[in-house]
Amino acid sequence: MVSENGRLMRAAVIHEYGDSSVLKNETAAVPEPGDDEVLVKVLYTSVNPMDWKMRAGYMKDFIHLKMPAILGIDVAGVVEKTGRSVKRFKTGDKVFGRASASRGGSYAEYTAVKEEQLARMPNNLQAREAAGLPVVAGTAWGALFEMANLKAGQRVLITGASGGVGLAAVQFARNAGAHVIGTTSGANAKLVKEMGANEVVDYTKGDFSKKVHDVDVVLDTVGGDTLSRACSVLKRGGVIVSLTGPVAPGVAEKLGITAKYSSVPSDGSRLEKIAKEIEAGRFRIVIDREFPLERIGEAHVLSESRKAKGKIIIKI
Ligand SMILES: NC(=O)c1ccc[n+]([C@@H]2O[C@H](COP(=O)([O-])OP(=O)(O)OC[C@H]3O[C@@H](n4cnc5c(N)ncnc54)[C@H](OP(=O)(O)O)[C@@H]3O)[C@@H](O)[C@H]2O)c1
Repeated sequence: MVSENGRLMRAAVIHEYGDSSVLKNETAAVPEPGDDEVLVKVLYTSVNPMDWKMRAGYMKDFIHLKMPAILGIDVAGVVEKTGRSVKRFKTGDKVFGRASASRGGSYAEYTAVKEEQLARMPNNLQAREAAGLPVVAGTAWGALFEMANLKAGQRVLITGASGGVGLAAVQFARNAGAHVIGTTSGANAKLVKEMGANEVVDYTKGDFSKKVHDVDVVLDTVGGDTLSRACSVLKRGGVIVSLTGPVAPGVAEKLGITAKYSSVPSDGSRLEKIAKEIEAGRFRIVIDREFPLERIGEAHVLSESRKAKGKIIIKI
């Protein structure tokens, strides 16, 4: 692969859609940042379920990948170079944010990221932890406060509370003064409580929706049957935000609830607000495992198992 600037980098590259074996450790061209982009030297990235959904081709109707492609959305690293119109960052700044897999993602030594998708890394946060934040914390924040308008004193149910999005949502909802109920399997109940849930329901021991009631807001990170059941725990006038698919037609009208499904748009200014929570010691990231970039395939297999407890971090 020939680079515009003559520089090459290590990267995990896919040439086709498929299982984790399509991820290959190769050499790729270092990208040139556009006018509104920042070239980031990537120290750590993380795996999100969206990464393996893209790799497998499940999202190819919405997100077009030009092969060969470099996946990876989360990024934490150091500014190497800035485009002409970039104002907020300079070479050497420590940053975190969201890269674009369709432009060239963060499973690489360098990635070019839009200025608006980056935030300054808080002083009390290591790059290893910052890399686990952008997608999950940005999604949890956007869903709870921008889409569901969660307020102090409200009751909120978070399904998949031990996952990346779930653990972020539990902490934000607790900090906002909500009464937090999380679903998880028994082994993760202690962790979810420690992170701020007032109540934990073990979804492996019967139908959780029979044990939860009068909820104002649901954040569903699981989908399928869980999503259908979660609608029934809401009060009339309640709001459900689903992350994996829409509520079935007619259900919201019948129950008198509002159902919202959309991808939460990413935004660096939201990450600045999250950085303040971290600086104030009100939020922490839970890391399940760390892999080197060379073992990205194993990291995808773990994420696809849907058993990760918090984040899977990748060291570049
Ligand atoms: N629309 C968007 O903008 C957006 C953004 C981010 C993520 N997402 C989607 O949201 C989903 C969650 O993402 P994530 O990063 O949080 O995933 P994740 O970290 O891989 O979630 C893993 C967790 O899910 C839990 N889980 C699995 N099945 C469950 C069930 N039936 N009930 C309760 N918990 C269950 C597991 O807990 P146990 O081990 O205890 O079972 C595990 O801790 C993914 O599908 C992702 O693609 C969408």
